Amino acid sequence: MANTLGIIKPDGVRRKLVGKIISRIETAGLIIRGLRVLKLSRSEAEKFYAVHEGKPFFNSLVDFMTSGPIVVMVIGGHGAVERWRDLMGATDPAKSRYNTLRREFGTSVEKNVVHGSDAEDTAKVEISFFFKEKDILPKE
Ligand code: RTP
Ligand code: MG
Repeated sequence: MANTLGIIKPDGVRRKLVGKIISRIETAGLIIRGLRVLKLSRSEAEKFYAVHEGKPFFNSLVDFMTSGPIVVMVIGGHGAVERWRDLMGATDPAKSRYNTLRREFGTSVEKNVVHGSDAEDTAKVEISFFFKEKDILPKE
């Protein structure tokens, strides 16, 4: 059993895709173990995406991620990190496989609707960025 961090980005919330995306997570057999709605401050977004600091898209990414509310989720299940990334699709919606969230709902390489941790160790760090242990449903 693993946990990963999922985010419905501001474009997804703005376009009222929250219910659809959570439904897809549940249909895939993954479990929502933690859920919050919040708006990132600039410094929080810069910290969360610190790994991309200095890249040409960094400032634009921070602008986008602070442009409206987001939904953050702890998504659990066997192989949750890979399974959630499979469901999301590739970063660029145009290059994502069919039946992925980014292919269906993403509108550009930046406005790609969802985020997912890329490994179990980064998942732990990213989950702790948003959730206290007591606010996460324990693994069974
Ligand atoms: P994420 O971290 O959001 O799950 O996405 P990812 O692993 O598939 O992509 P990553 O390389 O980590 O990039 C993080 C986010 O930055 C935006 N981005 N824009 N304009 C660009 O070329 C560009 N490249 C990346 C996207 O919102 C991407 O998800
Ligand atoms: Mg990433």
